[in-house]
Parts: sequence; structure tokens; C-alpha cells
Amino acid sequence: MLLVVMDVLLLLVVLLAVCCPVHGTWDSCGGSCGRPIAFRYGKLRIVGGTDAQPGVWPWIVSIEAPLEGGMAHICGGSLIRSQWVLTSAQCFIEARNITMWQVVVGATRLTQLGPKAQVRNIKRLLVHQHYSNVTQRNDIALLELEQPVQCNSYVQLACVPDASLRVSELTECYVSGWGARIARAGGSAYVLQEAQVHLIDAGVCNSSGWYRGAIHTHNICAGYPQGGIDTCQGDSGGPLVCQDKSADYFWLVGLTSWGMGCARAKKPGVYTSTQHFYNWILEQMGLHTAVATTARPQPAFASTPVQRPRPTPIEVGRFTPCPFPVQKLRDLLTRLQEFVHFLKGGNV
Ligand code: ARG
Repeated sequence: MLLVVMDVLLLLVVLLAVCCPVHGTWDSCGGSCGRPIAFRYGKLRIVGGTDAQPGVWPWIVSIEAPLEGGMAHICGGSLIRSQWVLTSAQCFIEARNITMWQVVVGATRLTQLGPKAQVRNIKRLLVHQHYSNVTQRNDIALLELEQPVQCNSYVQLACVPDASLRVSELTECYVSGWGARIARAGGSAYVLQEAQVHLIDAGVCNSSGWYRGAIHTHNICAGYPQGGIDTCQGDSGGPLVCQDKSADYFWLVGLTSWGMGCARAKKPGVYTSTQHFYNWILEQMGLHTAVATTARPQPAFASTPVQRPRPTPIEVGRFTPCPFPVQKLRDLLTRLQEFVHFLKGGNV
């Protein structure tokens, strides 16, 4: 009996080693992206939004800077790998000593972080080389964290789409953030806010009465023509995600960038398209773009939601995709080990 268990154990270890050699260590975030583990409930109600339930947007992070002896929320961001956060360049215009800043993951209420939340220092800030703080062109930046975070039910990676995802066809999209809840009032929300938004055609968004030509090809407009629900100050860098209808996970399609006022009619939120900067993101993280041409969209950096025919899992450069839920397998392995231990103890 013990021998059989040992054999199974060995086989599992070999399988794991072959499938997921993450630099020799287990990466708790390696198995999937874009999929909240927490069950969502309640009506969605940011400006015009509602309190988010814990774990519903597990990739969102709060980027914080020292202020008056404490830490103050500055911007949102999204975890795209266990050591990398994607956010907006504008968050750092006035940044002095970035090593004093912090990133909070796995939180809903910023005043009460909860046991699953993790705080990290920033090792490196990479702002887009052509970012303009006048036009908000190329409003994108990456943060490398000093230590990777551990994924859990409140901390998961977001999926960044490559060029093949047809973003404009996605119909169920959401924004989230700790930014101002009331337009013009300022201040940040303590409880993470969320709201459903619609993607707005770039032609319409650029037309007269709207943004009159200020929208670039790398922007996405989202909100409501009549206003009322929108991101606002303090939401910058945070995620605009859309659900993939053919699966049950979300794509990180945009980063909150700018808007004229907040929640005004014909002045929806303007987001930086992550798809547009897919290759830039890979390059900055030191990953190669060799696997660029594929028929189906692929989330970058994290292997995709597993056990699905599409999109195909990729792990560009670093580690090969895991064709099964790694975390589950690891749990199983741990339990098997415990079982073997128990058997040994019983036999000897
Ligand atoms: N730049 C803003 C910030 O500091 C985000 C503004 C978003 N505005 C909007 N109307 N959606 O957080």
C-alpha cells in the first residue's frame, strides 16, 4: 500500500516538475488569471457604483504613498504577475521617493486590510518612455514589487489580452477602484467600489459634443452617454475588465486614465488599452514576444484559465503552461504527503 502511494506521489512530483518549473519554486499565481474565486452577489451599483464584495476583483491593488505619518491611497493598479503591477503613468508625476511607496493587494476596505491582504514595497517603476502628462498619451506604467505576492482567494492575476482579442465585442464590462465616489468632492472611498460600464465606440467618443478628437487609438472609452456612473479621481491606473462570454473569466482591457470631470454626459471615462501595449508590457518585464502570432487571444504572463480549449495558455519565456490546476494539484500533493507520513507513522 505504502509503495503504491509512494509511486503516485513520485508521478505527481514528476508531472509538476515537467509542467510547471517556475524557476525551481512553486508560484502560487501560476495557474490561472482573470477568474475571481469569491462568489459574487448583490446588485452592482467609483461615482454611482456600489461596495464591492471581498475577492470579487482579486487583481486590484491600491498604490499608496506616505502622507502625514501614514499611507494614502494614490492610484489603482492590477496584478498581472506575482511580482508585477500594471497601472497608469500619471500616478507617479509627483512621486519623489518611490521606495517609500507601497502596494496593497487582496484588500477591499483600505482601513481594515483583513488577513488575506498583502503589502509590498516597490523595487522598480517603469513609466512608458513616451508618456505625456499634457495629452495623457501612453498613460501606462509597470511596478516591479520587491517580493512576489502569494495568490489566494483574494489575490489573483488579471489576464492581459494580445492583439487577437476582439475587445469591442465584449459587452459585460466593469470598473473598480477606491477613487472619489462623488464627482467634484474628491477624497477616496474606504470600501472598494465597482460599477458596470459599457464600451463606447471610439468614433462616437471622438465626435463633436464628446471628446472632439482627443481620443487616441490606444484609448478605450467606457461609461454611459448620459453620464451618472464613472470612474473618478483616485481610480487612475485601476482596471476596466470585461467578461469573456465564451468562458467565465475577465480580461483586463483598460487602465483608468482620464475624463472631463466625472460622470458627465458625453464625457465618459477614458482608459489606456492594455491590448495596445501588450508587447511593451512583455518587453518591460523582460519576456520575449516570440509567441506573438496565434489564432486566439491569449492572456499574457499568467497561464490562462485552465482546462479550456481557448484561449491557449502561454507562459512567455519563463515557464511552460500548466494544463491542469496547479494549486489543486499542490494541495493534493500536500495531502498525499501527510497521508504518507501518517502511514509511515502507523507502520513503523
Ligand atoms: N485621472 C483620474 C485620476 O486621477 C482618473 C479620472 C477618470 N475620470 C473619469 N471621468 N473617468 O484618478
